[in-house]
Amino acid sequence: MTRKLNKIPTHIAIIMDGNGRWATKRGLPRNFGHKEGVNAIERTILACLKYGIKYCTFFAFSTENWKRSKEEIDGIFNLLRDYLNKDDNIFIENQVKISSLGVLEPFPEDLKKSLYEMQEKTKSYNKLVVNFALNYGGRDDIVRAVNSLIEKGYTKVTEQDILTALDTKDIPEPDFVIRTSGEQRISNFLLYQMAYSELYFPSVLWPDFNERYFYKALKEFQKRNRRFGGIK
Ligand code: IPE
Ligand code: IPE
Ligand code: MG
Repeated sequence: MTRKLNKIPTHIAIIMDGNGRWATKRGLPRNFGHKEGVNAIERTILACLKYGIKYCTFFAFSTENWKRSKEEIDGIFNLLRDYLNKDDNIFIENQVKISSLGVLEPFPEDLKKSLYEMQEKTKSYNKLVVNFALNYGGRDDIVRAVNSLIEKGYTKVTEQDILTALDTKDIPEPDFVIRTSGEQRISNFLLYQMAYSELYFPSVLWPDFNERYFYKALKEFQKRNRRFGGIK
C-alpha cells in the first residue's frame, strides 16, 4: 500500500457513529459497541500520530444524547472514566494534549476531575491535540459564544468575534469531517466551524474503524479540491 499523501488535513473531526448497530448485529447490548468504540478511538489517535495530523476532535456525547436510557449513558460515562484513568494511557507516552469541547457541568464529579487531571498533565504537549466533544451541540456552542460576548458588553458581533468565543477558539476549523456508519448528517456537531469542511461518510461502523479505514479516508481527502468560494 502506498503511503504517499500530499494533502494532510490539519484538523480531522470525527462523528463516531454506529456503536449501537455494531453491538445489535452481534446480539449484544449496545454498550458493548461503545466499549469497542473506545478501542477505535485509540487506533485513530495512533493513526493521527503516524500521519502527522495536528488536531483530532471526537464527537463522544451530544447535547441530544441525554435522550438515551440512563443505563446507556452511565455505560458511556464508565467507559470514559476507565479510559482516562488507565495506567498505560497513550497520551503521555506520545505527547498528546487532551482537551474538551462542550459543557462538562452535568457530568459526574469524578469524571470531570479525571478529565481535568489529564488536561493538566498533557497541557504542554503539542505533537497532537485530541479534543473530546462532550455534552456538545453546535447550536449550544454558538448560543454560549454569543451570550459570552453580550456579557462582555458587545451589542453587535462579527463573524470573527463569534469564532473567538466558540469552544474551538484555540484550534483551527476542521478540514475534514468523517462520519462513520453511512448516516449522512451532521447531528448538531461543529455547525459554525464546518462551513468549509470536506465531509466524508464511510459506511464502516465506528467499532470497526482502524488504520486501513483511516488511510482510505486520507486518500479520499486527496481528491478534494477546496475552493472556499473561489476558482481554482
Ligand atoms: C455513536 O454510536 C456513539 C454515541 C452517540 C455516543 P451510536 O450509539 O449512535 O450507534 P448507533 O447509531 O445506534 O448504531
Ligand atoms: C451523533 O450520533 C452524536 C455522536 C456521535 C456523539 P447520534 O447517533 O447521536 O446521531 P443521530 O441521532 O443519529 O442523528
Ligand atoms: Mg448513532
